[in-house]
This record gives sequence, C-alpha cells and structure tokens, in this order.
Amino acid sequence: MHNIPIITLDGPSGSGKGTISKLIAKHLNWHLLDSGALYRLVALVAEQHRINLTNGAAIAAVAVHLDVQFNTLDDTVQIVLEGEDVTLAISSEQCAMNASRIATHVLVRKALKARQRAFAKSPGLVADGRDMGTVIFPHAHLKIFLTASAEERANRRYKQLKNNSINASLPDVLADIKQRDERDLSRSIAPLKPAQDATLLDCTGMSISEVFAQLRSLIKIQDFKTQG
Ligand code: C5P
Repeated sequence: MHNIPIITLDGPSGSGKGTISKLIAKHLNWHLLDSGALYRLVALVAEQHRINLTNGAAIAAVAVHLDVQFNTLDDTVQIVLEGEDVTLAISSEQCAMNASRIATHVLVRKALKARQRAFAKSPGLVADGRDMGTVIFPHAHLKIFLTASAEERANRRYKQLKNNSINASLPDVLADIKQRDERDLSRSIAPLKPAQDATLLDCTGMSISEVFAQLRSLIKIQDFKTQG
C-alpha cells in the first residue's frame, strides 16, 4: 500500500472536502474513498435491522458484511447497497447523525479499517473523511485538513439538502453540524483532528473553484501526475 500515492482530505461536516475530493480524483484520474458514506451505510443498515445504535458489536458485524458498490458516473458517485441505489437515502441529516453515533464504537471503526485501506489501488487514491491522515493512511503523500466556520458549513449543507429536495431548516442544520462536530472532536477513538504533517486550509469565504485551485498547486508541487 505504501507505494500507491495517496492524498487525504479530512475535516468537519460541510467543509467541502467531499466535493473537492471528487474534483481532485477526477483531475488525477485516481480512485476515490468517501469514508463518511461507509459510516452512513452502516448506520442505515443498523436502522433497517432495528439494531440499537449503542450495540457496538452488532453494528460492527453489519460493517464487516456490508455489501456495497460505489459506481462512478461522470461527476457523481452512485452508492448501491445489496443491489439497491441508496445514494439519496444516506444523504439525509438523520443518517448523518446516526453515522456519527455509530462512529464512536471502537469495534465499528476497526471493522471498517481494512475495507477503507483496500481502496488504495493504482494509480492512486483520494481519501475523504475524519481520520484518513491520522489513522487509516498515516503514510499518505499529501494530507489536507479543510475547515470553514460552522455557519458557512451549515449554509452549504442546507443548499445541498435543498438541491436534493430534502426538507430542512437552516437553524436545524446548524444545530446538527455543531452537535456532530462536538461528537467527532471529543470521541476517544480517532477524533477529528489534523495529522501533524497536514496542510491546513480554512476555506471560509472561498468558492469551491478557489479551494480547488489552491490545492491543485500543492498537488503540482508533489508532481503526482508523473507517479503511479
Ligand atoms: O463525512 P460524512 O458527513 O458523510 O460523515 C458522517 C459521519 O461519519 C461523521 O459525522 C463522522 O461522525 C463519521 N465519520 C467518521 N470517520 C470518517 C468519516 C466519517 O467518524 N472517516
């Protein structure tokens, strides 16, 4: 795995890392890991099977047996769970909140570790999450920690939900973001924090294309295009 070039993008909810990761993966023609989707999928299945979200062992078993496919279609990724398209189902705020609850279990994180590492394939991987640079890919070649103010992140998330025709109110989205931040930052296992060797970028007030342009120059310095 160490000779496969890897770029990690970590950061809180709504920091834009999902969109930016997709753009970088497309730019380099690399694989993409949306690790948040894995946590959301586990939360979805746990809910469908009426598993208590405090039952770490039962939820870890769900994580081990997850039958999922990520299909890249132009600019979007379709997520298929046991043959069913669940892309929209896992994008809800409820699913995100449940994902942050189940993500606090050591056994669940352990169960998803190997699955996440298996995404590292030639010619390279862009990995998006909370602990990509710290725990899953500590040897990544470039680590980015993207953040923005909670208000700006809530605004972006609110627009995203509206675009997907999902009902939401801005104050509720902001409250959810703050609650998830708190849970992600304070958990004892793999808390949200920048790796020591990560490049920090606060993108409050920046457009996606401005963030992408800044990161492209970092990638250029690394000259990944000639590797792999
Ligand atoms: O990134 P996304 O919002 O889809 O993640 C949903 C939740 O999954 C996060 O709030 C976080 O609690 C959890 N997560 C995590 N570690 C990751 C990715 C996501 O704990 N690498």
